[in-house]
Amino acid sequence: MTQDELKLAVAQAAIAYVVEGEIVGVGTGSTANFFIDELAKMKDKIKAAVASSEATAERLRAHGITVLDLNEVTHMPVYIDGADEINASGAMIKGGGAALTREKIVASVAEKFVCIADGSKLVDTLGRFPLPVEVIPMSHAVVSRQLNALGGNAKLRLKDGQPLVTDNGNYILDVHGLQITDPLALENTINNIVGVVTVGLFAHQGADVCLLGTAEGVRSLIY
Ligand code: A5P
Repeated sequence: MTQDELKLAVAQAAIAYVVEGEIVGVGTGSTANFFIDELAKMKDKIKAAVASSEATAERLRAHGITVLDLNEVTHMPVYIDGADEINASGAMIKGGGAALTREKIVASVAEKFVCIADGSKLVDTLGRFPLPVEVIPMSHAVVSRQLNALGGNAKLRLKDGQPLVTDNGNYILDVHGLQITDPLALENTINNIVGVVTVGLFAHQGADVCLLGTAEGVRSLIY
């Protein structure tokens, strides 16, 4: 199976977690895009969606799905999103698509986080995928130095030769070379660096379920 076929399979499996008549939180990225296209097929059965990025909001609206501002929402049974890496405890690295801050915020409102990923995303130790950290632009150099002091190699993410600007008007540092053996502790440490908006380590808010696409079918990992 191709990677896209695996992503489609987990996106289809995730539909079983959508609660009819309720609001669904929707992630960002190529796997989430497959999910959005599947969600569109049952759009009349959900109340609305909350998007974790402008790109996701646009795709949802293009399908005719109502997108709510998170401030209008108090109850969201499920948030469904991809990951760049996930470990055996459900801790994840996210933010490869630069949407980590809104992803973490929307996920924080949901009762359940369902991660959808192809099998290549399951790792023993997080960190081979560079850890994204969203920062206030004026702080990127000082935050980089502090991340390097933790043993990483922080690089400002660029787009067309210029710093990539997130939906929130911030920059992203990608931290290479980390071996994240204690995700909870590292999430706390990086959260405490002044200038950091969000670290793309989802350990405190890990997945409750991971639907993992493999050649043998979709595996459900329950955390
Ligand atoms: C977006 O910022 C990310 O957190 C994505 O969820 C993550 O990068 C997974 O993306 P893919 O589904 O494209 O691999």
